Amino acid sequence: MNEMIEAMNGLFVTFEGIDGAGKSTHIESLARSFRAQGRVVTLTREPGGTPLAERLRQMVLNDSMDAMTEALLVFAARRDHIQRVIQPALARGEVLLCDRFTDASFAYQGAGRGFDRAILATLEHWVQDGVLQPDLTIWFDLPAAVAAQRLAGARAPDKFESQPQAFFERVAGGYADRMAADPGRFARVNADQDAESVWVEVDSAVRSKGMLS
Ligand code: TYD
Repeated sequence: MNEMIEAMNGLFVTFEGIDGAGKSTHIESLARSFRAQGRVVTLTREPGGTPLAERLRQMVLNDSMDAMTEALLVFAARRDHIQRVIQPALARGEVLLCDRFTDASFAYQGAGRGFDRAILATLEHWVQDGVLQPDLTIWFDLPAAVAAQRLAGARAPDKFESQPQAFFERVAGGYADRMAADPGRFARVNADQDAESVWVEVDSAVRSKGMLS
């Protein structure tokens, strides 16, 4: 428990949205902003962020499996990531920027694939020791139809990227539900704009939380 309280000194920011929402460039820009203010920044992602979790990522993204297996693997990857990377970085007082976290499990495995949300909530409680949550989650909200256009013709799609539009409509609904359940943690950004306008919203979300001056 003491370790968890100490961990709260760092800053834990996560980035969410359906595939094609365009999180990556903004995560990099935010890392630069924090570094410019003298903060040490760790950039990481889920599933992944440790050697074990990256191996689990390959399985989750490429192998076909039922939704429960998928949920167990993403939470197993998350546990390793929290233990080896997230908690230690937060305990050192760093800024931890994570491309996706538990909201993605509720959105993809829960809303997208229809897996039991009560079980996901139990896994969340176990894996996050009942207390660890991001300080801020930036949700890049984009209509599924727009994401489909953006993804068409991009690199070879992985297992999730090749899902039909209806899947991503459910995933987007899953994110909306997570935000409604914990509005104080979330900042919703309209991702259906040019990258510069999206950045203005990302930047102001972080500043309005007092995380950047
Ligand atoms: P993504 O973050 O979009 O990475 P890239 O930009 O390299 O494609 O890919 C991760 C995929 O994993 C994405 O489709 C969402 C999915 N995912 C889950 O299904 N459950 C989870 O808990 C997490 C973290 C991700």
